[in-house]
Amino acid sequence: MHAAALLLVSALCSATWALDNGEMRVPPMGWLAWERFRCDLDCQHDPKNCISENLFIDMADRLFEDGWRELGYVYVNIDDCWSSMKRDEKGRLQADPQRFPRGIRFLSRYMHARGLKLGLYGDMGTHTCGGYPGTTLDDIALDAQTFADWEVDMFKFDGCYSNATVQEQGYPLMSKALNATGRPIAYSCSWPAYQGGLPPKVNYTQLGQLCNLWRNYGDIQDSWDSVLNIVEWFSENQDVLAPAAGPGKWNDPDMLIIGDFGLSMDQSRAQMALWAIMAAPLFMSNDLRTISSGARSILQNKMAVIINQDPLGIQGRRIVKEKIGIDVFWRPLSKNASALVFFSRRNDMPYRYQTSLGKLNYTTGSYEIHDVFAQKTTTLKDSTPFVVSVNPTGVVMWHVSAPAKWNRRPFRRGGGRRGNAIPPVFL
Ligand code: GLA
Repeated sequence: MHAAALLLVSALCSATWALDNGEMRVPPMGWLAWERFRCDLDCQHDPKNCISENLFIDMADRLFEDGWRELGYVYVNIDDCWSSMKRDEKGRLQADPQRFPRGIRFLSRYMHARGLKLGLYGDMGTHTCGGYPGTTLDDIALDAQTFADWEVDMFKFDGCYSNATVQEQGYPLMSKALNATGRPIAYSCSWPAYQGGLPPKVNYTQLGQLCNLWRNYGDIQDSWDSVLNIVEWFSENQDVLAPAAGPGKWNDPDMLIIGDFGLSMDQSRAQMALWAIMAAPLFMSNDLRTISSGARSILQNKMAVIINQDPLGIQGRRIVKEKIGIDVFWRPLSKNASALVFFSRRNDMPYRYQTSLGKLNYTTGSYEIHDVFAQKTTTLKDSTPFVVSVNPTGVVMWHVSAPAKWNRRPFRRGGGRRGNAIPPVFL
Protein backbone atom coordinates (compact mmCIF):
# COMPACT_ATOMS: atom_id res chain seq x y z
CA MET A 1 0.00 0.00 0.00
CA HIS A 2 1.17 3.53 -0.69
CA ALA A 3 2.40 5.49 2.30
CA ALA A 4 -0.40 8.03 1.77
CA ALA A 5 -3.07 5.32 1.68
CA LEU A 6 -1.59 3.78 4.81
CA LEU A 7 -1.72 7.11 6.55
CA LEU A 8 -5.34 7.57 5.56
CA VAL A 9 -6.30 4.13 6.83
CA SER A 10 -4.55 4.69 10.13
CA ALA A 11 -6.14 8.13 10.48
CA LEU A 12 -9.58 6.62 9.86
CA CYS A 13 -8.94 3.85 12.35
CA SER A 14 -7.92 6.25 15.07
CA ALA A 15 -10.75 8.69 14.37
CA THR A 16 -13.02 9.13 17.35
CA TRP A 17 -16.32 10.95 17.48
CA ALA A 18 -15.18 13.49 19.98
CA LEU A 19 -16.13 17.15 20.12
CA ASP A 20 -14.35 18.50 17.09
CA ASN A 21 -12.45 21.35 18.72
CA GLY A 22 -9.06 19.62 18.82
CA GLU A 23 -8.86 20.10 22.58
CA MET A 24 -7.74 17.65 25.25
CA ARG A 25 -6.42 14.80 23.14
CA VAL A 26 -4.95 13.57 26.44
CA PRO A 27 -6.57 14.11 29.85
CA PRO A 28 -6.24 17.74 30.99
CA MET A 29 -3.95 18.57 33.91
CA GLY A 30 -3.85 21.58 36.17
CA TRP A 31 -5.36 23.14 39.23
CA LEU A 32 -8.96 23.87 40.22
CA ALA A 33 -10.03 26.04 43.14
CA TRP A 34 -13.20 24.39 44.39
CA GLU A 35 -12.41 21.51 46.74
CA ARG A 36 -9.76 23.37 48.71
CA PHE A 37 -10.96 26.99 48.60
CA ARG A 38 -14.73 26.64 48.08
CA CYS A 39 -16.59 29.95 48.26
CA ASP A 40 -14.32 31.78 50.68
CA LEU A 41 -15.32 35.42 50.26
CA ASP A 42 -13.64 36.84 53.33
CA CYS A 43 -10.81 38.70 51.65
CA GLN A 44 -10.62 41.07 54.56
CA HIS A 45 -9.67 38.45 57.16
CA ASP A 46 -8.45 35.65 54.91
CA PRO A 47 -6.78 37.46 52.01
CA LYS A 48 -4.53 34.54 51.05
CA ASN A 49 -7.35 32.06 50.64
CA CYS A 50 -10.40 33.97 49.48
CA ILE A 51 -11.64 33.58 45.88
CA SER A 52 -9.87 36.56 44.31
CA GLU A 53 -7.42 37.24 41.51
CA ASN A 54 -4.56 36.93 44.03
CA LEU A 55 -5.32 33.27 44.66
CA PHE A 56 -5.18 32.43 40.93
CA ILE A 57 -2.04 34.50 40.43
CA ASP A 58 -0.37 32.74 43.36
CA MET A 59 -1.25 29.31 41.97
CA ALA A 60 -0.12 30.28 38.46
CA ASP A 61 3.22 31.41 39.88
CA ARG A 62 3.65 28.11 41.68
CA LEU A 63 2.73 26.07 38.57
CA PHE A 64 5.18 28.15 36.56
CA GLU A 65 8.07 28.14 39.02
CA ASP A 66 7.86 24.80 40.82
CA GLY A 67 8.14 22.33 37.96
CA TRP A 68 4.41 21.65 37.48
CA ARG A 69 3.95 23.26 34.10
CA GLU A 70 6.70 21.19 32.44
CA LEU A 71 4.89 18.03 33.54
CA GLY A 72 1.66 19.19 31.92
CA TYR A 73 -0.17 20.86 34.80
CA VAL A 74 -1.20 23.92 32.78
CA TYR A 75 -4.81 24.76 33.61
CA VAL A 76 -5.60 27.26 36.35
CA ASN A 77 -9.34 26.94 36.85
CA ILE A 78 -11.65 29.34 38.57
CA ASP A 79 -14.75 27.67 40.02
CA ASP A 80 -17.87 29.13 41.62
CA CYS A 81 -18.20 32.53 43.34
CA TRP A 82 -16.05 34.55 40.93
CA SER A 83 -18.77 36.72 39.50
CA SER A 84 -20.65 39.74 40.58
CA MET A 85 -24.20 39.10 41.81
CA LYS A 86 -25.47 41.14 38.84
CA ARG A 87 -24.91 41.04 35.11
CA ASP A 88 -23.72 44.34 33.56
CA GLU A 89 -25.93 46.81 31.71
CA LYS A 90 -25.50 44.83 28.48
CA GLY A 91 -26.55 41.62 30.18
CA ARG A 92 -23.03 40.18 30.37
CA LEU A 93 -21.59 38.27 33.29
CA GLN A 94 -18.94 40.28 35.11
CA ALA A 95 -16.31 39.43 37.68
CA ASP A 96 -16.76 40.65 41.23
CA PRO A 97 -15.12 44.10 41.08
CA GLN A 98 -13.61 43.96 44.57
CA ARG A 99 -12.10 40.52 44.35
CA PHE A 100 -11.20 40.59 40.64
CA PRO A 101 -10.47 44.29 40.08
CA ARG A 102 -8.62 43.69 36.79
CA GLY A 103 -11.26 41.32 35.41
CA ILE A 104 -11.00 37.85 33.89
CA ARG A 105 -9.14 38.89 30.74
CA PHE A 106 -6.29 40.15 32.87
CA LEU A 107 -6.05 36.70 34.45
CA SER A 108 -6.18 34.80 31.16
CA ARG A 109 -3.38 36.98 29.79
CA TYR A 110 -1.40 36.41 32.96
CA MET A 111 -1.74 32.65 32.37
CA HIS A 112 -0.92 32.80 28.67
CA ALA A 113 2.23 34.82 29.29
CA ARG A 114 3.44 31.89 31.39
CA GLY A 115 2.41 29.05 29.08
CA LEU A 116 -0.63 28.30 31.25
CA LYS A 117 -4.37 28.27 30.51
CA LEU A 118 -7.37 29.73 32.28
CA GLY A 119 -10.58 27.88 33.07
CA LEU A 120 -13.85 29.49 34.12
CA TYR A 121 -17.07 28.24 35.68
CA GLY A 122 -20.77 28.76 34.94
CA ASP A 123 -24.09 27.02 35.43
CA MET A 124 -26.83 25.87 33.06
CA GLY A 125 -29.63 27.20 35.20
CA THR A 126 -30.91 30.28 36.93
CA HIS A 127 -28.09 30.29 39.52
CA THR A 128 -24.76 28.62 40.10
CA CYS A 129 -24.63 26.10 42.94
CA GLY A 130 -23.25 28.89 45.13
CA GLY A 131 -26.14 31.22 44.24
CA TYR A 132 -24.40 33.45 41.66
CA PRO A 133 -25.99 34.33 38.31
CA GLY A 134 -26.52 31.30 36.10
CA THR A 135 -26.83 30.99 32.33
CA THR A 136 -30.39 30.55 31.12
CA LEU A 137 -31.12 29.30 27.60
CA ASP A 138 -31.39 32.92 26.45
CA ASP A 139 -27.95 33.81 27.83
CA ILE A 140 -25.98 31.01 26.19
CA ALA A 141 -24.73 32.76 23.04
CA LEU A 142 -23.81 35.95 24.87
CA ASP A 143 -21.99 34.10 27.66
CA ALA A 144 -20.01 31.94 25.22
CA GLN A 145 -18.95 35.09 23.37
CA THR A 146 -18.01 36.80 26.63
CA PHE A 147 -15.73 33.87 27.59
CA ALA A 148 -14.12 33.97 24.15
CA ASP A 149 -13.62 37.75 24.44
CA TRP A 150 -11.93 37.15 27.77
CA GLU A 151 -9.63 34.57 26.08
CA VAL A 152 -10.73 31.79 28.38
CA ASP A 153 -9.42 28.29 27.51
CA MET A 154 -11.81 26.00 29.35
CA PHE A 155 -15.36 26.30 30.61
CA LYS A 156 -17.02 24.11 33.27
CA PHE A 157 -20.81 24.15 32.96
CA ASP A 158 -22.50 23.10 36.20
CA GLY A 159 -26.16 22.12 36.50
CA CYS A 160 -27.68 23.53 39.70
CA TYR A 161 -31.06 25.33 39.67
CA SER A 162 -32.11 23.66 36.46
CA ASN A 163 -34.16 20.73 35.21
CA ALA A 164 -33.83 17.86 32.76
CA THR A 165 -35.58 19.66 29.89
CA VAL A 166 -33.49 22.78 30.20
CA GLN A 167 -30.29 20.73 30.45
CA GLU A 168 -31.17 18.68 27.39
CA GLN A 169 -31.33 21.86 25.38
CA GLY A 170 -28.70 23.90 27.13
CA TYR A 171 -25.66 21.60 27.19
CA PRO A 172 -25.71 21.00 23.41
CA LEU A 173 -26.46 24.68 22.73
CA MET A 174 -23.45 25.80 24.78
CA SER A 175 -21.25 23.33 22.89
CA LYS A 176 -22.32 24.90 19.60
CA ALA A 177 -22.04 28.42 20.95
CA LEU A 178 -18.49 27.87 22.21
CA ASN A 179 -17.47 26.41 18.83
CA ALA A 180 -19.14 29.29 17.03
CA THR A 181 -16.88 31.81 18.78
CA GLY A 182 -13.94 30.39 16.81
CA ARG A 183 -11.83 30.24 19.97
CA PRO A 184 -10.89 26.72 21.07
CA ILE A 185 -12.50 26.47 24.50
CA ALA A 186 -12.45 23.06 26.15
CA TYR A 187 -15.90 22.22 27.45
CA SER A 188 -16.52 20.46 30.75
CA CYS A 189 -20.10 19.32 31.28
CA SER A 190 -21.52 18.47 34.67
CA TRP A 191 -24.66 17.21 32.95
CA PRO A 192 -24.36 13.47 33.71
CA ALA A 193 -23.82 14.21 37.40
CA TYR A 194 -27.35 15.68 37.37
CA GLN A 195 -28.98 12.88 35.40
CA GLY A 196 -29.71 10.70 38.39
CA GLY A 197 -26.14 9.46 38.57
CA LEU A 198 -26.86 6.11 36.97
CA PRO A 199 -24.98 5.53 33.69
CA PRO A 200 -27.89 3.94 31.79
CA LYS A 201 -29.72 7.27 31.88
CA VAL A 202 -26.83 9.08 30.25
CA ASN A 203 -26.22 9.10 26.51
CA TYR A 204 -22.44 8.85 26.54
CA THR A 205 -22.15 8.78 22.76
CA GLN A 206 -23.84 12.15 22.57
CA LEU A 207 -21.75 13.50 25.46
CA GLY A 208 -18.55 12.56 23.66
CA GLN A 209 -19.71 14.59 20.67
CA LEU A 210 -20.56 17.64 22.79
CA CYS A 211 -18.08 17.83 25.64
CA ASN A 212 -14.36 17.30 26.22
CA LEU A 213 -14.92 16.02 29.74
CA TRP A 214 -17.80 15.49 32.10
CA ARG A 215 -18.42 15.01 35.78
CA ASN A 216 -20.29 11.72 36.14
CA TYR A 217 -20.80 11.59 39.87
CA GLY A 218 -20.98 13.51 43.16
CA ASP A 219 -18.43 15.98 44.50
CA ILE A 220 -15.17 14.80 45.99
CA GLN A 221 -14.54 15.83 49.61
CA ASP A 222 -11.32 15.88 51.56
CA SER A 223 -11.48 12.33 52.89
CA TRP A 224 -10.43 8.80 52.06
CA ASP A 225 -14.05 7.66 52.29
CA SER A 226 -14.91 10.05 49.49
CA VAL A 227 -12.08 8.76 47.26
CA LEU A 228 -13.08 5.14 47.97
CA ASN A 229 -16.71 5.84 47.20
CA ILE A 230 -15.82 7.44 43.85
CA VAL A 231 -13.45 4.63 42.87
CA GLU A 232 -16.06 2.03 43.74
CA TRP A 233 -18.74 3.80 41.67
CA PHE A 234 -16.45 4.21 38.67
CA SER A 235 -15.39 0.56 38.86
CA GLU A 236 -18.93 -0.77 39.28
CA ASN A 237 -20.00 1.19 36.20
CA GLN A 238 -16.85 0.74 34.13
CA ASP A 239 -18.55 -1.21 31.34
CA VAL A 240 -20.57 1.88 30.50
CA LEU A 241 -17.95 4.49 31.39
CA ALA A 242 -14.71 3.13 29.92
CA PRO A 243 -15.92 2.89 26.29
CA ALA A 244 -17.14 6.50 26.49
CA ALA A 245 -13.62 7.85 27.08
CA GLY A 246 -10.95 8.54 24.48
CA PRO A 247 -8.87 11.37 23.03
CA GLY A 248 -10.87 14.58 23.40
CA LYS A 249 -13.56 13.07 25.69
CA TRP A 250 -12.97 12.05 29.28
CA ASN A 251 -14.88 10.84 32.32
CA ASP A 252 -14.08 13.09 35.26
CA PRO A 253 -14.08 11.51 38.74
CA ASP A 254 -13.37 15.01 40.15
CA MET A 255 -10.32 16.72 41.65
CA LEU A 256 -7.14 15.33 43.19
CA ILE A 257 -7.11 16.10 46.91
CA ILE A 258 -3.46 15.07 47.38
CA GLY A 259 -1.70 17.70 49.50
CA ASP A 260 -4.79 18.58 51.55
CA PHE A 261 -5.79 17.23 54.97
CA GLY A 262 -7.72 14.02 54.36
CA LEU A 263 -5.27 11.51 52.86
CA SER A 264 -2.23 9.68 54.22
CA MET A 265 0.77 9.26 51.93
CA ASP A 266 -0.38 5.75 50.97
CA GLN A 267 -3.87 7.04 50.20
CA SER A 268 -2.36 9.88 48.17
CA ARG A 269 -0.37 7.41 46.07
CA ALA A 270 -3.60 5.42 45.67
CA GLN A 271 -5.54 8.43 44.37
CA MET A 272 -2.72 9.32 41.96
CA ALA A 273 -2.41 5.75 40.67
CA LEU A 274 -6.14 5.21 40.26
CA TRP A 275 -6.75 8.56 38.54
CA ALA A 276 -3.79 7.82 36.23
CA ILE A 277 -5.03 4.36 35.32
CA MET A 278 -8.59 5.65 34.79
CA ALA A 279 -7.30 8.24 32.27
CA ALA A 280 -8.91 10.88 34.49
CA PRO A 281 -8.32 14.62 34.28
CA LEU A 282 -5.66 15.56 36.84
CA PHE A 283 -6.95 18.76 38.41
CA MET A 284 -5.33 19.31 41.79
CA SER A 285 -7.30 21.24 44.37
CA ASN A 286 -4.73 22.02 47.02
CA ASP A 287 -2.52 24.85 48.19
CA LEU A 288 0.58 24.79 46.01
CA ARG A 289 2.17 27.50 48.19
CA THR A 290 2.40 25.24 51.22
CA ILE A 291 2.20 21.69 49.81
CA SER A 292 4.47 19.12 51.51
CA SER A 293 7.37 17.69 49.58
CA GLY A 294 5.84 14.20 49.99
CA ALA A 295 2.57 15.19 48.34
CA ARG A 296 4.41 17.12 45.66
CA SER A 297 6.59 14.17 44.72
CA ILE A 298 3.51 11.96 44.32
CA LEU A 299 1.78 14.51 42.08
CA GLN A 300 4.99 15.06 40.14
CA ASN A 301 5.75 11.37 39.67
CA LYS A 302 6.82 11.28 36.03
CA MET A 303 5.84 7.71 35.30
CA ALA A 304 2.36 8.16 36.81
CA VAL A 305 1.88 11.24 34.64
CA ILE A 306 3.15 9.42 31.53
CA ILE A 307 0.66 6.63 32.17
CA ASN A 308 -2.19 9.12 32.65
CA GLN A 309 -1.22 10.99 29.48
CA ASP A 310 -0.85 7.96 27.22
CA PRO A 311 -1.85 9.01 23.70
CA LEU A 312 -4.11 6.00 23.08
CA GLY A 313 -6.41 7.42 25.74
CA ILE A 314 -7.93 4.09 26.76
CA GLN A 315 -9.52 4.20 30.21
CA GLY A 316 -8.25 1.40 32.48
CA ARG A 317 -10.50 -1.07 34.22
CA ARG A 318 -10.67 -3.11 37.39
CA ILE A 319 -9.89 -6.64 36.21
CA VAL A 320 -9.78 -8.42 39.58
CA LYS A 321 -11.83 -7.82 42.71
CA GLU A 322 -10.74 -10.22 45.43
CA LYS A 323 -13.04 -10.86 48.39
CA ILE A 324 -10.05 -10.32 50.68
CA GLY A 325 -10.04 -6.63 49.68
CA ILE A 326 -7.44 -6.53 46.91
CA ASP A 327 -8.33 -5.10 43.51
CA VAL A 328 -6.21 -5.13 40.36
CA PHE A 329 -6.63 -2.46 37.68
CA TRP A 330 -5.20 -2.66 34.18
CA ARG A 331 -4.79 -0.14 31.41
CA PRO A 332 -3.45 -0.81 27.91
CA LEU A 333 -0.92 1.79 26.78
CA SER A 334 0.62 2.67 23.46
CA LYS A 335 3.55 0.64 22.06
CA ASN A 336 2.06 -2.53 23.52
CA ALA A 337 2.89 -1.47 27.06
CA SER A 338 0.40 -1.43 29.93
CA ALA A 339 -0.09 -0.33 33.50
CA LEU A 340 -1.20 -2.30 36.53
CA VAL A 341 -2.39 -1.08 39.91
CA PHE A 342 -2.64 -3.42 42.88
CA PHE A 343 -4.97 -1.68 45.32
CA SER A 344 -5.68 -2.69 48.90
CA ARG A 345 -9.02 -1.80 50.47
CA ARG A 346 -7.84 -3.50 53.66
CA ASN A 347 -7.28 -1.78 57.00
CA ASP A 348 -4.94 -4.19 58.76
CA MET A 349 -1.37 -4.59 57.51
CA PRO A 350 0.55 -4.81 54.24
CA TYR A 351 -1.04 -7.65 52.29
CA ARG A 352 1.19 -10.03 50.37
CA TYR A 353 -0.78 -10.68 47.21
CA GLN A 354 0.36 -13.55 45.01
CA THR A 355 -0.44 -13.79 41.32
CA SER A 356 1.35 -13.92 37.96
CA LEU A 357 1.19 -11.89 34.78
CA GLY A 358 -0.27 -14.96 33.08
CA LYS A 359 -3.14 -14.99 35.59
CA LEU A 360 -3.71 -11.32 34.77
CA ASN A 361 -4.21 -12.26 31.08
CA TYR A 362 -0.73 -11.35 29.86
CA THR A 363 0.49 -13.37 26.90
CA THR A 364 3.61 -15.52 26.87
CA GLY A 365 6.77 -13.50 27.14
CA SER A 366 9.10 -11.71 29.41
CA TYR A 367 8.22 -8.22 30.61
CA GLU A 368 10.16 -5.35 32.07
CA ILE A 369 8.36 -4.06 35.14
CA HIS A 370 8.90 -0.56 36.45
CA ASP A 371 7.49 0.09 39.93
CA VAL A 372 6.15 3.64 39.62
CA PHE A 373 6.50 4.73 43.26
CA ALA A 374 9.36 2.48 44.46
CA GLN A 375 11.19 3.38 41.21
CA LYS A 376 12.68 -0.07 40.78
CA THR A 377 12.87 -2.19 37.65
CA THR A 378 12.63 -6.00 37.37
CA THR A 379 11.98 -8.55 34.67
CA LEU A 380 9.14 -11.06 34.95
CA LYS A 381 7.99 -13.90 32.77
CA ASP A 382 4.26 -14.35 32.34
CA SER A 383 4.42 -17.72 34.09
CA THR A 384 6.47 -16.63 37.11
CA PRO A 385 4.42 -16.33 40.30
CA PHE A 386 5.19 -13.14 42.21
CA VAL A 387 4.17 -11.53 45.47
CA VAL A 388 3.51 -7.81 45.84
CA SER A 389 3.16 -6.26 49.25
CA VAL A 390 0.34 -3.70 49.21
CA ASN A 391 -0.03 -1.34 52.18
CA PRO A 392 -3.48 -0.87 53.76
CA THR A 393 -5.46 1.69 51.70
CA GLY A 394 -2.47 1.88 49.40
CA VAL A 395 -1.27 0.76 46.00
CA VAL A 396 1.58 -0.76 44.08
CA MET A 397 1.65 0.63 40.56
CA TRP A 398 3.56 -0.87 37.66
CA HIS A 399 4.43 0.19 34.17
CA VAL A 400 4.75 -3.02 32.16
CA SER A 401 6.76 -3.00 28.92
CA ALA A 402 5.76 -4.73 25.72
CA PRO A 403 6.50 -8.47 25.93
CA ALA A 404 9.87 -9.71 24.73
CA LYS A 405 9.87 -13.27 23.40
CA TRP A 406 11.51 -15.93 25.53
CA ASN A 407 11.98 -19.60 24.85
CA ARG A 408 10.32 -21.95 27.25
CA ARG A 409 12.81 -24.58 28.27
CA PRO A 410 11.94 -27.85 26.53
CA PHE A 411 10.35 -30.34 28.90
CA ARG A 412 12.96 -32.83 30.11
CA ARG A 413 11.91 -36.19 31.48
CA GLY A 414 12.75 -36.60 35.13
CA GLY A 415 14.38 -33.21 35.31
CA GLY A 416 13.37 -29.98 36.93
CA ARG A 417 10.80 -29.60 39.66
CA ARG A 418 8.04 -31.65 38.17
CA GLY A 419 5.00 -31.59 40.42
CA ASN A 420 6.32 -28.70 42.54
CA ALA A 421 5.07 -25.16 42.13
CA ILE A 422 7.65 -22.62 40.98
CA PRO A 423 8.59 -20.52 44.03
CA PRO A 424 7.24 -16.96 43.79
CA VAL A 425 9.40 -13.89 43.31
CA PHE A 426 8.93 -11.40 46.16
CA LEU A 427 8.80 -7.85 44.81
C1 GLA B 1 -21.16 21.76 42.42
C2 GLA B 1 -20.02 21.14 41.63
C3 GLA B 1 -18.69 21.41 42.33
C4 GLA B 1 -18.49 22.90 42.46
C5 GLA B 1 -19.66 23.51 43.21
C6 GLA B 1 -19.60 25.03 43.23
O1 GLA B 1 -21.35 21.15 43.64
O2 GLA B 1 -20.20 19.75 41.48
O3 GLA B 1 -17.62 20.84 41.59
O4 GLA B 1 -18.34 23.47 41.20
O5 GLA B 1 -20.91 23.15 42.61
O6 GLA B 1 -20.66 25.61 43.89
